[in-house]
Amino acid sequence: MKKTYSLLIMVALFIAACNSGEEKSETSETTTDAAASSTEDLSSNPVYQAGLAIEVTQDCATCHKVDTKIIGPSYREIANKYGSQPDTVINYLANKIITGGSGVWGPDVMTPHASLPQADAEALVRYILLLKNN
Ligand code: HEC
Repeated sequence: MKKTYSLLIMVALFIAACNSGEEKSETSETTTDAAASSTEDLSSNPVYQAGLAIEVTQDCATCHKVDTKIIGPSYREIANKYGSQPDTVINYLANKIITGGSGVWGPDVMTPHASLPQADAEALVRYILLLKNN
């Protein structure tokens, strides 16, 4: 009788262990799904649309892509670095786009965009920061 009980307990523990493993993988799947769908949903996000509309009139894409580093860091990397920081970072990044510079990501230089209005630069930053995925 005792043996049966301990066997039952072991079976129960085994099932519990398996279940908790499954829950974990389900959670990470959900997270991936959420990230994927949030990327899809972005196309109807007004902040995304506003930023993209300005982006296509500028030379940003010569040096930046969403997921691949070209001359500048990918937008995703920029978003992951600054996306959790307070809103003041928007001002810093907008100014950086306007004045250009180097040294944060390496020796490569971002050319200045001196004629870009501050509001447009901020819209570009808000668009980039939406691409954060961690
Ligand atoms: C000539 C290539 C080039 C062009 C054009 C360019 N960038 Fe950059 N960008 C870079 C480089 C290189 C860096 C990394 C600078 C550094 O390390 O400080 C960078 C950095 C950035 C950063 C992060 C700044 C920081 O301090 O972390 C943002 C945001 C950015 N670029 C946005 C833009 C936008 C928006 C445009 C278009 C208006 C643009 N860039 C056009 C090359 C470019």
